[in-house]
Amino acid sequence: MKLLATAIAGLAIVGQPLASASPTARTDVKLPLPQRLLHDWANGSWVENISVRPNGNLLVSTSTPDGSVWQIKEPWKDQPEVELVYNFDQWVDRLIGIGETTPDKYVVVGSRFYSTDPMSSHVDRTFAAMELDFSGSANKDKPAVRLIAWFPDAHLLQGVAALPWDRTKVLISDQYLLRPRAAPQKDWTPARGQVWTLDTVTGAHEVVFANDTALDTTYRHGYDVGINGIKIRRDWLYWVNSDDGNIYRLKIDKTGHAVPPAKPEVVAFQDTIWDDFTFGPEHEDTIWATGFNAIFAASPQGKVVTVNGVGTSDNGIMPGPTACAFGRSPHDRNILYVTGNMGEIPVDIEHVHLKGWVRAIDTTGFHF
Ligand SMILES: *[C@@H]1O[C@H](CO)[C@@H](O)[C@H](O)[C@H]1NC(C)=O
Ligand SMILES: *[C@@H]1O[C@H](CO)[C@@H](O)[C@H](O)[C@H]1NC(C)=O
Ligand SMILES: *[C@@H]1O[C@H](CO)[C@@H](O)[C@H](O)[C@H]1NC(C)=O
Repeated sequence: MKLLATAIAGLAIVGQPLASASPTARTDVKLPLPQRLLHDWANGSWVENISVRPNGNLLVSTSTPDGSVWQIKEPWKDQPEVELVYNFDQWVDRLIGIGETTPDKYVVVGSRFYSTDPMSSHVDRTFAAMELDFSGSANKDKPAVRLIAWFPDAHLLQGVAALPWDRTKVLISDQYLLRPRAAPQKDWTPARGQVWTLDTVTGAHEVVFANDTALDTTYRHGYDVGINGIKIRRDWLYWVNSDDGNIYRLKIDKTGHAVPPAKPEVVAFQDTIWDDFTFGPEHEDTIWATGFNAIFAASPQGKVVTVNGVGTSDNGIMPGPTACAFGRSPHDRNILYVTGNMGEIPVDIEHVHLKGWVRAIDTTGFHF
């Protein structure tokens, strides 16, 4: 979740290529990568996360004006059909992460919020994990929904990633910057970062990793969260620390707990404000990540290249990117779908224009 304070904290670098991220010559592809707008939502909307269904349709979660999931059908088409799947307003006002558990079943997390203002905060003790299940329905576009568990002790539930050994169990990242409050924020001390495990069948949940500075904000970029997007690959939990610019990984066991000595390793660094990331598609260890109004690719050796947005000749094209995922159909395996929450890069905090969007970036031919 990219908070507005983040967008403002980094304004000074808008329009300036980031020194360590300047596009270098590639053998068979030019930067910025080709991209197109698939859909944008009304003013005031905020699209926060994305998950790709086994049939290739995209599911995206919204943080404003309400906590809904939308579907973009057959996103490889010129004019894909876009429809509201479900509004979770009986439980929450805002959704953040969405992640697939068993095939075509999803966990979404969110909470009550005081208002739809981007600087508003969650209401204390109202976080919840809910399920959206397309796997059993006769009508494949009308999923079953249910509450999995309340999380009264969560700070701000963010990203969701299923354990590969038992996909009914997920890990969830958690850290707030905007404190639960009805009035303007005075105390900007963020919560410490932590990671929960949730059994989606029983609703049982507990904190499995905490008390490590790799999860926390350092104020490197101003007010921001630390741990944000998470993914699990093989025996490793990966996460971006939005604030310190690192992508970390930590070895975990089959229950999602850290393997001793439980020391996170830095996989890549970029002086940006990360939000989310994914792996693939040609080389499974290539990381693609959304950062400060830009999209990055990171090699397994830790080399980072800006592929779209600020730092390329197409500076303004990725305002407020929030999450990314590769296509899952034969038509779009090299397409990186990116969600975002702004209409344009704001000039100052008075002029932020929330507007949700999803873009498709063609990564064909890109490699390190
Ligand atoms: C949406 O916001 C933009 C920028 O503030 C404005 O130019 C446009 O007229 C708005 N559109 C609608 C339909 O209100
Ligand atoms: C977005 O969702 C993916 C799963 O589809 C998850 O791995 C990631 O952590 C989420 N990111 C954020 C920022 O919520
Ligand atoms: C973090 O530290 C606190 C205070 O020492 C402790 O109560 C808690 O169990 C620790 N959490 C984890 C997951 O180790």
